[in-house]
Amino acid sequence: MSTETMSTISDFNQKSHDETDAEHRVQVELLNELCEAVKKNAPPTVISDIFQQLVDYSKAHFLSEELLMRQMSYDDYEDHVGDHVRMLEALDEIAEAQASGKSVLVSGKAESILKFIKQHIATRDQRFADFLLRGVK
Ligand SMILES: [Fe+2]
Repeated sequence: MSTETMSTISDFNQKSHDETDAEHRVQVELLNELCEAVKKNAPPTVISDIFQQLVDYSKAHFLSEELLMRQMSYDDYEDHVGDHVRMLEALDEIAEAQASGKSVLVSGKAESILKFIKQHIATRDQRFADFLLRGVK
């Protein structure tokens, strides 16, 4: 492989890592914002606005992360995507309950999925970030 090709791959990995990292930061910020709003007893419309942003952002982010994992033939793909499916299902359930007027965001279920997302970012996403950086030499 030529030096030029090597540095192109390395640049791609570095760029992918930085973008994914930035997306995770946005996700965590939205999660924290949501928890704050719930704690402060913010109006339901404010809470559902932040929640909707979190859902939309998570969907887009998961898709781009999954595409990147496939491009890189990532070894933890199946389990990682399994986490994404589980998170989206739980977020959808919360959205449905919200829409029907039940304030479930403060319930244990919502809290546990929010914790799960943070945990996912700190573990599986971190593993993928490290994997991307290993390709940067
Ligand atoms: Fe992920």
